[in-house]
Amino acid sequence: MPINNSQVALEEIEKFNIAHYEENAESFRIGTQQHDVSQNIAALLDALPQEKTLDILDFGCGPGRDLRVFKALGHRPVGLDGCKEFCKMAQEQSDCPTLNQQFLKLELEENSYDGIFANASLFCVPSQELPRVLTELHSALKKDGILFSSNPRGNAEGWQGQRYAHYMEFETSQLFLQQAGFKIVEHFYRPAGKPRVEQPWLAIVSRCKKN
Ligand SMILES: C[S@@+](CC[C@H](N)C(=O)[O-])C[C@H]1O[C@@H](n2cnc3c(N)ncnc32)[C@H](O)[C@@H]1O
Repeated sequence: MPINNSQVALEEIEKFNIAHYEENAESFRIGTQQHDVSQNIAALLDALPQEKTLDILDFGCGPGRDLRVFKALGHRPVGLDGCKEFCKMAQEQSDCPTLNQQFLKLELEENSYDGIFANASLFCVPSQELPRVLTELHSALKKDGILFSSNPRGNAEGWQGQRYAHYMEFETSQLFLQQAGFKIVEHFYRPAGKPRVEQPWLAIVSRCKKN
Protein backbone atom coordinates (compact mmCIF):
# COMPACT_ATOMS: atom_id res chain seq x y z
CA MET A 1 0.00 0.00 0.00
CA PRO A 2 1.69 3.30 -1.04
CA ILE A 3 2.35 5.73 1.82
CA ASN A 4 1.37 9.39 1.44
CA ASN A 5 4.17 11.49 2.91
CA SER A 6 4.02 15.28 3.29
CA GLN A 7 6.65 17.51 1.68
CA VAL A 8 8.40 17.91 5.05
CA ALA A 9 8.43 14.15 5.56
CA LEU A 10 9.87 13.62 2.09
CA GLU A 11 12.70 16.04 2.81
CA GLU A 12 13.36 14.22 6.11
CA ILE A 13 13.43 10.86 4.36
CA GLU A 14 15.98 12.08 1.84
CA LYS A 15 18.07 13.85 4.49
CA PHE A 16 18.21 10.76 6.75
CA ASN A 17 18.89 8.33 3.91
CA ILE A 18 21.78 10.40 2.58
CA ALA A 19 23.13 11.06 6.09
CA HIS A 20 23.17 7.30 6.70
CA TYR A 21 25.49 6.82 3.72
CA GLU A 22 27.65 9.86 4.60
CA GLU A 23 28.21 8.40 8.09
CA ASN A 24 28.97 4.91 6.83
CA ALA A 25 30.71 5.74 3.54
CA GLU A 26 34.02 3.98 4.16
CA SER A 27 32.52 0.82 5.68
CA PHE A 28 30.00 0.68 2.80
CA ARG A 29 32.85 1.02 0.28
CA ILE A 30 34.82 -1.81 1.89
CA GLY A 31 31.74 -4.00 2.35
CA THR A 32 30.54 -3.69 -1.25
CA GLN A 33 33.70 -3.32 -3.33
CA GLN A 34 33.81 -7.06 -4.14
CA HIS A 35 30.08 -7.43 -4.87
CA ASP A 36 29.72 -9.18 -8.19
CA VAL A 37 27.09 -7.34 -10.22
CA SER A 38 28.51 -8.39 -13.60
CA GLN A 39 25.16 -10.02 -14.47
CA ASN A 40 23.46 -6.64 -14.00
CA ILE A 41 26.05 -4.73 -16.00
CA ALA A 42 25.74 -7.29 -18.82
CA ALA A 43 21.94 -7.05 -18.76
CA LEU A 44 22.12 -3.28 -19.36
CA LEU A 45 24.82 -3.48 -22.05
CA ASP A 46 23.28 -6.44 -23.88
CA ALA A 47 20.08 -4.43 -24.42
CA LEU A 48 21.99 -1.52 -26.02
CA PRO A 49 23.76 -1.17 -29.38
CA GLN A 50 27.06 -3.07 -29.40
CA GLU A 51 30.40 -1.63 -30.53
CA LYS A 52 29.35 1.90 -29.66
CA THR A 53 30.67 4.12 -26.89
CA LEU A 54 27.68 4.59 -24.61
CA ASP A 55 26.74 7.46 -22.34
CA ILE A 56 25.76 5.81 -19.06
CA LEU A 57 24.38 7.37 -15.88
CA ASP A 58 25.15 5.33 -12.76
CA PHE A 59 22.16 6.45 -10.67
CA GLY A 60 23.12 6.15 -6.99
CA CYS A 61 26.69 5.27 -7.93
CA GLY A 62 27.92 4.86 -4.35
CA PRO A 63 31.74 4.71 -4.08
CA GLY A 64 32.18 4.06 -7.81
CA ARG A 65 32.70 0.30 -8.19
CA ASP A 66 30.55 0.04 -11.31
CA LEU A 67 31.72 3.33 -12.88
CA ARG A 68 35.17 1.78 -13.10
CA VAL A 69 33.80 -1.25 -14.93
CA PHE A 70 31.80 0.80 -17.46
CA LYS A 71 34.84 2.97 -18.10
CA ALA A 72 37.17 -0.03 -18.49
CA LEU A 73 34.73 -1.38 -21.09
CA GLY A 74 35.23 1.80 -23.12
CA HIS A 75 32.03 3.67 -22.25
CA ARG A 76 31.44 7.21 -20.94
CA PRO A 77 29.91 6.75 -17.48
CA VAL A 78 28.79 9.55 -15.19
CA GLY A 79 27.96 8.93 -11.55
CA LEU A 80 25.13 10.50 -9.58
CA ASP A 81 24.74 10.34 -5.83
CA GLY A 82 23.29 12.46 -3.04
CA CYS A 83 26.14 11.49 -0.72
CA LYS A 84 29.03 13.94 -1.14
CA GLU A 85 31.58 11.45 0.22
CA PHE A 86 30.53 8.84 -2.35
CA CYS A 87 30.80 11.39 -5.18
CA LYS A 88 34.33 12.18 -4.05
CA MET A 89 35.30 8.50 -3.70
CA ALA A 90 33.71 7.59 -7.02
CA GLN A 91 35.48 10.40 -8.85
CA GLU A 92 38.83 9.49 -7.30
CA GLN A 93 38.45 5.76 -7.93
CA SER A 94 37.08 5.85 -11.44
CA ASP A 95 38.20 9.21 -12.82
CA CYS A 96 34.62 9.67 -14.05
CA PRO A 97 32.58 12.83 -13.50
CA THR A 98 29.98 12.65 -10.75
CA LEU A 99 26.85 14.69 -10.11
CA ASN A 100 26.02 15.39 -6.48
CA GLN A 101 22.23 15.39 -6.80
CA GLN A 102 19.35 14.21 -4.64
CA PHE A 103 16.90 11.77 -6.22
CA LEU A 104 13.98 14.01 -5.28
CA LYS A 105 15.63 17.15 -6.75
CA LEU A 106 17.14 15.85 -9.96
CA GLU A 107 18.46 18.25 -12.57
CA LEU A 108 19.22 16.03 -15.53
CA GLU A 109 19.55 17.11 -19.13
CA GLU A 110 17.05 15.62 -21.54
CA ASN A 111 18.05 12.97 -24.10
CA SER A 112 21.54 12.62 -22.63
CA TYR A 113 22.05 8.94 -21.80
CA ASP A 114 21.95 5.66 -23.71
CA GLY A 115 21.64 3.77 -20.47
CA ILE A 116 20.85 4.36 -16.80
CA PHE A 117 22.20 1.86 -14.29
CA ALA A 118 20.14 2.08 -11.11
CA ASN A 119 21.74 -0.66 -9.04
CA ALA A 120 20.22 -0.84 -5.55
CA SER A 121 19.10 2.78 -5.61
CA LEU A 122 15.48 3.24 -6.73
CA PHE A 123 14.17 1.49 -3.62
CA CYS A 124 15.32 4.61 -1.71
CA VAL A 125 12.63 6.68 -3.51
CA PRO A 126 9.27 6.82 -1.67
CA SER A 127 6.39 5.41 -3.77
CA GLN A 128 4.69 8.79 -3.84
CA GLU A 129 7.64 10.34 -5.70
CA LEU A 130 8.56 7.33 -7.84
CA PRO A 131 6.37 8.25 -10.85
CA ARG A 132 8.01 11.69 -11.06
CA VAL A 133 11.56 10.32 -10.63
CA LEU A 134 10.97 7.62 -13.27
CA THR A 135 9.55 10.23 -15.65
CA GLU A 136 12.69 12.33 -15.12
CA LEU A 137 14.90 9.33 -15.86
CA HIS A 138 12.80 8.65 -18.96
CA SER A 139 13.39 12.25 -20.14
CA ALA A 140 17.13 11.95 -19.49
CA LEU A 141 17.36 8.85 -21.68
CA LYS A 142 17.75 9.00 -25.42
CA LYS A 143 15.03 7.35 -27.52
CA ASP A 144 15.22 3.57 -27.07
CA GLY A 145 17.61 4.03 -24.16
CA ILE A 146 17.64 1.46 -21.38
CA LEU A 147 16.92 1.73 -17.68
CA PHE A 148 18.36 -1.11 -15.63
CA SER A 149 17.12 -1.33 -12.06
CA SER A 150 17.82 -3.82 -9.33
CA ASN A 151 16.15 -3.61 -5.94
CA PRO A 152 15.39 -5.77 -2.94
CA ARG A 153 11.94 -7.22 -3.60
CA GLY A 154 8.86 -7.40 -1.37
CA ASN A 155 5.68 -5.49 -0.62
CA ALA A 156 6.68 -3.01 2.03
CA GLU A 157 7.43 0.65 2.53
CA GLY A 158 8.64 2.65 5.49
CA TRP A 159 11.49 3.23 7.91
CA GLN A 160 13.96 0.44 8.53
CA GLY A 161 16.12 1.79 11.31
CA GLN A 162 17.88 4.87 9.94
CA ARG A 163 16.79 4.33 6.34
CA TYR A 164 13.51 4.58 4.45
CA ALA A 165 12.87 1.93 1.83
CA HIS A 166 10.21 0.92 -0.67
CA TYR A 167 10.21 -2.70 -1.81
CA MET A 168 8.12 -3.99 -4.70
CA GLU A 169 7.57 -7.26 -6.47
CA PHE A 170 7.69 -7.41 -10.26
CA GLU A 171 3.98 -6.75 -10.90
CA THR A 172 3.99 -3.42 -9.00
CA SER A 173 7.38 -2.35 -10.39
CA GLN A 174 6.14 -3.05 -13.88
CA LEU A 175 3.12 -0.75 -13.41
CA PHE A 176 5.30 2.15 -12.23
CA LEU A 177 7.71 1.66 -15.16
CA GLN A 178 4.98 1.39 -17.77
CA GLN A 179 3.22 4.49 -16.47
CA ALA A 180 6.47 6.44 -16.89
CA GLY A 181 6.78 5.35 -20.54
CA PHE A 182 9.03 2.29 -20.25
CA LYS A 183 8.53 -1.07 -21.92
CA ILE A 184 9.83 -4.09 -19.99
CA VAL A 185 12.51 -6.02 -21.89
CA GLU A 186 13.22 -8.68 -19.26
CA HIS A 187 13.36 -9.29 -15.55
CA PHE A 188 15.26 -11.76 -13.42
CA TYR A 189 15.92 -12.60 -9.79
CA ARG A 190 19.27 -12.73 -8.01
CA PRO A 191 21.50 -14.35 -7.01
CA ALA A 192 21.25 -16.55 -10.10
CA GLY A 193 20.73 -20.29 -9.77
CA LYS A 194 19.04 -20.24 -6.35
CA PRO A 195 15.45 -21.15 -5.41
CA ARG A 196 13.17 -18.08 -5.50
CA VAL A 197 12.98 -17.82 -1.70
CA GLU A 198 16.75 -17.33 -1.70
CA GLN A 199 16.62 -14.61 -4.36
CA PRO A 200 15.92 -11.32 -2.56
CA TRP A 201 16.85 -9.13 -5.56
CA LEU A 202 14.63 -8.26 -8.51
CA ALA A 203 16.36 -6.89 -11.63
CA ILE A 204 14.44 -5.25 -14.49
CA VAL A 205 15.62 -4.09 -17.91
CA SER A 206 13.24 -1.57 -19.51
CA ARG A 207 13.34 0.39 -22.73
CA CYS A 208 12.49 4.07 -22.97
CA LYS A 209 9.73 4.54 -25.53
CA LYS A 210 9.53 8.03 -27.10
CA ASN A 211 7.78 9.43 -30.14
C1 LIG B 1 22.39 0.70 -1.52
S1 LIG B 1 23.40 2.00 -2.14
C2 LIG B 1 23.87 1.38 -3.75
C3 LIG B 1 25.18 1.96 -4.24
C4 LIG B 1 25.72 1.35 -5.56
N1 LIG B 1 24.84 1.55 -6.67
C5 LIG B 1 25.98 -0.12 -5.38
O1 LIG B 1 25.40 -0.94 -6.10
O2 LIG B 1 26.81 -0.45 -4.53
C6 LIG B 1 22.24 3.31 -2.52
C7 LIG B 1 22.89 4.57 -3.06
O3 LIG B 1 21.89 5.54 -3.32
C8 LIG B 1 22.28 6.79 -2.75
N2 LIG B 1 21.05 7.47 -2.30
C9 LIG B 1 20.12 6.99 -1.44
N3 LIG B 1 19.11 7.87 -1.31
C10 LIG B 1 19.42 8.93 -2.10
C11 LIG B 1 18.77 10.15 -2.41
N4 LIG B 1 17.59 10.45 -1.89
N5 LIG B 1 19.35 10.99 -3.29
C12 LIG B 1 20.55 10.69 -3.84
N6 LIG B 1 21.24 9.55 -3.57
C13 LIG B 1 20.67 8.68 -2.72
C14 LIG B 1 23.18 6.43 -1.60
O4 LIG B 1 24.04 7.49 -1.25
C15 LIG B 1 23.89 5.19 -2.12
O5 LIG B 1 25.05 5.52 -2.84
